[in-house]
Amino acid sequence: RIAGPSSLVIFGVTGDLARRKLMPAVYDLANRGLLPPSFALVGFARRDWDTEDFGKIVHDAVREHSRTEFREDVWERLAEGFRFVQGSFDDPEAFTALAQTLGDLDRQRGTDGNHAFYLSIPPGAFPVVCQQLKDSGLADPTGGSWRRVVIEKPFGHDLQSAQELNAVVNSVFPEESVFRIDHYLGKETVQNILALRFANQLFDPLWSSHYVDHVQITMAEDIGLGGRAGYYDGIGAARDVIQNHLLQLLALIAMEEPVSFEPSQLQAEKIKVLSATRNILPLAENTARGQYGPGWQGGIKVPGLLDEEGFAKDSSTETFAAIAVEVDTRRWAGVPFYLRTGKRLGRRVTEIAIVFKRAPHLPFDQTMTEELGQNALVIRVQPDEGVTLRFGSKVPGPGMEVRDVNMDFSYGQAFTVASPEAYERLILDVLLGEPSLFPVNAEVELCWRILDPVLEAWSEAGHPDTYESGTWGPASADEMLERVGRVWRRP
Ligand code: BG6
Repeated sequence: RIAGPSSLVIFGVTGDLARRKLMPAVYDLANRGLLPPSFALVGFARRDWDTEDFGKIVHDAVREHSRTEFREDVWERLAEGFRFVQGSFDDPEAFTALAQTLGDLDRQRGTDGNHAFYLSIPPGAFPVVCQQLKDSGLADPTGGSWRRVVIEKPFGHDLQSAQELNAVVNSVFPEESVFRIDHYLGKETVQNILALRFANQLFDPLWSSHYVDHVQITMAEDIGLGGRAGYYDGIGAARDVIQNHLLQLLALIAMEEPVSFEPSQLQAEKIKVLSATRNILPLAENTARGQYGPGWQGGIKVPGLLDEEGFAKDSSTETFAAIAVEVDTRRWAGVPFYLRTGKRLGRRVTEIAIVFKRAPHLPFDQTMTEELGQNALVIRVQPDEGVTLRFGSKVPGPGMEVRDVNMDFSYGQAFTVASPEAYERLILDVLLGEPSLFPVNAEVELCWRILDPVLEAWSEAGHPDTYESGTWGPASADEMLERVGRVWRRP
């Protein structure tokens, strides 16, 4: 579907996210023919720019980060709808100017009063921007038009602050007009979890505690935090990605089949699962956290977090976090879900591994099965997108030796079209008013309910363990699984 007449206003247009993801995604949507001629992109920031400067910035961002080929005609048509409004978030006059600009666009370009406000700004600024949108009348739709607000995580830093934040946002925009971005839900491989589970008969009978031993959800990154201290110091890995991306992945893996793919039905199932998710106790043995020290990555010597620019020299921000949870339902009782994430790990990979129980009996000579592990279904979210099924197979030759082999489905081979970037899909859905891929407030709060006790325990436990950059995290993470006779995968 193609978006209808609309304007997208980006607050925080000078930021990294706008440059690397949002502006290129807008261009890619235009290039794929998914934006109407009556579309406008409005930048709002304090920077002393005019529309021409803004256009140059968008142009550079697109040339550097766009996924599609650059086409002059597409660019020119899109750029005619660019505007820049200069001002600070607490300046009512700037919002009057914004209202004026949007009104002009409605008349000149036919954007029809449909405005999406994308708050790509620190959450501390949400209240003032929401209030200004309200006071300037911009939050109120006129005669059949719509107004939507898009917010980026972090949605608070714990349950209480999330509730307060939400009260502020909802005092201006009704819940159905609030689009919370969790960009993992915009990824093709993540949406494919629902197809894999509910379009096939093959996996469902195995999808429970009868056959599943445990689940491992890993989001590993090789990058460090240089340049991100402002956002990350004091936030840490658990708040940054477990609270949102990893718990959303868990919800999709563990939820029951929704009655339909109607947004409300999907949400209902995710809410049920998250309501049933509990930390495995005691927390000290079932969580791990670490901070990267110096080390080597890709043959290059890299500094530890405490030597990265902007981080406090005694920062106890964790850059690695692992938690163990259970989903207290008939389907999953007793199956641990292990979630881990970290910066400066061995390599960049996100995957979900469903690890099955061992065969109850092996009629082989023991020496013949030494290289046979547990069966596993691995959903490779990125970067090598696909699905792997690991099972035992006979090694060719005279004996009956059995070892693990992999059967692979790879996106690159199976589909000729490249997957769109997550932000493309999500921006399009905002403009279409399609809420399925956006977590509702109840999900956000349930995720904080799971994480809050962990964060509290950690805050009393002193400095996180240090791990060497380029490794797979602190020894405490390995011990957490060794204690129960399991090991982390080395993807
Ligand atoms: C963001 C986090 O949500 O996701 C970042 O704030 C992280 O810390 C990023 O680097 C990773 O996204 P992706 O899509 O590259 O896995």
